[in-house]
Amino acid sequence: MVATTTSTGEGWSSRTAFILAAVGAAVGLGNIWRFPTLAGESGGGAFVFFYIACVFLLGLPLVLSEIFIGRVGQTDAVGSIRKVAAQSQSSPGWAVFGAIGAIAAFLIVSFYSVVAGWVLYYAGVMGGDLVDAIMAGEPFRGALAGEDQAQIQQRLGDMFASPGLLLAMHLAFMGVTLFIVARGVSSGIEKAATYLMPMFFVLLVGLVIYGAIEGDIAETAAFLFTPDWSKLTPQVMNSALGQALFSLSLGVAGLITYGSYIKEGSGLGSTSALIAVADTAVALLAGFMIFPIVFAVGLDPAAGPTLVFQTLPFAFQTMPAGALFGFLFFVLILVAAVTSSISLLEVPTAWGIGERGWSRHKSALIFGGGAFLIGIACLLGYNVWSDVRPLGFWSLFAETDILDTVDGFTGKVMLPVGALLTSIFIGWKADTNLLRTTTGLSPIAFGIWRFLIAWLCPIAVAIILVTGLFPSILGA
Ligand code: PHE
Repeated sequence: MVATTTSTGEGWSSRTAFILAAVGAAVGLGNIWRFPTLAGESGGGAFVFFYIACVFLLGLPLVLSEIFIGRVGQTDAVGSIRKVAAQSQSSPGWAVFGAIGAIAAFLIVSFYSVVAGWVLYYAGVMGGDLVDAIMAGEPFRGALAGEDQAQIQQRLGDMFASPGLLLAMHLAFMGVTLFIVARGVSSGIEKAATYLMPMFFVLLVGLVIYGAIEGDIAETAAFLFTPDWSKLTPQVMNSALGQALFSLSLGVAGLITYGSYIKEGSGLGSTSALIAVADTAVALLAGFMIFPIVFAVGLDPAAGPTLVFQTLPFAFQTMPAGALFGFLFFVLILVAAVTSSISLLEVPTAWGIGERGWSRHKSALIFGGGAFLIGIACLLGYNVWSDVRPLGFWSLFAETDILDTVDGFTGKVMLPVGALLTSIFIGWKADTNLLRTTTGLSPIAFGIWRFLIAWLCPIAVAIILVTGLFPSILGA
């Protein structure tokens, strides 16, 4: 029997609410900051096509698997996996990947909040005197007006050098995340998603149109869609696979947790497809928002992680109405980041409620507070603790600062392990009838899903895991 209530009685008020929240979870810094950064660094087209293949052949089957587990389990990730295992005569030990996911989500939200804090600072800088300009009836020129490229680059360095500033931004962002999660599923998470996601799409479309008018869209299309297959090295494939998992929020039990709040109905297949399509469309649109502007000003698309914080602010400030659109750009990232960070914090919070019997407030406070503290270590890694290498004994992380270590360890180890165990569990252990009736897939779709989740996903994800951990295999 499929239970119809969650252990806490919480749930989405409609299918639309679930879709908005799940798309909100998927669409985040991964789409707007990391995807264009990686596409730029990896030379464009070939990366983009390989990434899209990863999303639909590996990501989509995993999205459906996680939502299925939550839908059946109706409680936190650990409890949900246990329930599916019990109904499939499998070992309750499989619940371990729910615990790995919850720990990964907890670690990711700690540095995610720090990076979102940088975005918050830039939104503040770029929008700083907007209200003053409006009140005075003057054109809005923005705080960066007249600064040259070196001065704008210097701003990022100055921000990193200031622990107090980074801390204040991190505190503000984590505070908002914690506040929303503490309010609960329907009055917190769902409400935030139903206000913020429409706002996000309006901003996105507005900025893409701006880029199309003011920027170089032809060069962008050529860059993103002309594959030079010689650039598709094993390292590039590896990072495309990892990015697909991260962007779809896979391997951290996020979609198990959100899926557990679905109260009725099936159609899980089409919902999953919608999430994957929306997430990928946003990543591509982010490319069509950023690169036209980068190319218009003749800047380098391969700037790396500073693309968004150094290249773009400079590009914007040379363009018509650039101050306003630059400000809106950072607001857009911030909105995307909030709807993702709440999904991250929700995973351990639900675990505390479901497995420990804590109240929602207590659980959110413990994990939000803990992540805040880890985030402080991450941000100090940019200044007073810049010499600290937490996993320095491990050659893979020998040169990696605190934030990048937490990012790298979760992304290269924990997410692939979570995804690998999920695919083996669903592909080989879960009861076939339970899968069929819960997902409501047509026989053909069901057959394709079973094939991908049982064979392609475990093999491909195992390859990411191993090549990610031992890059020397790839000759790097
Ligand atoms: N998918 C989010 C992004 O692209 C990050 C995320 C990962 C959110 C895992 C939730 C869970 O930014």
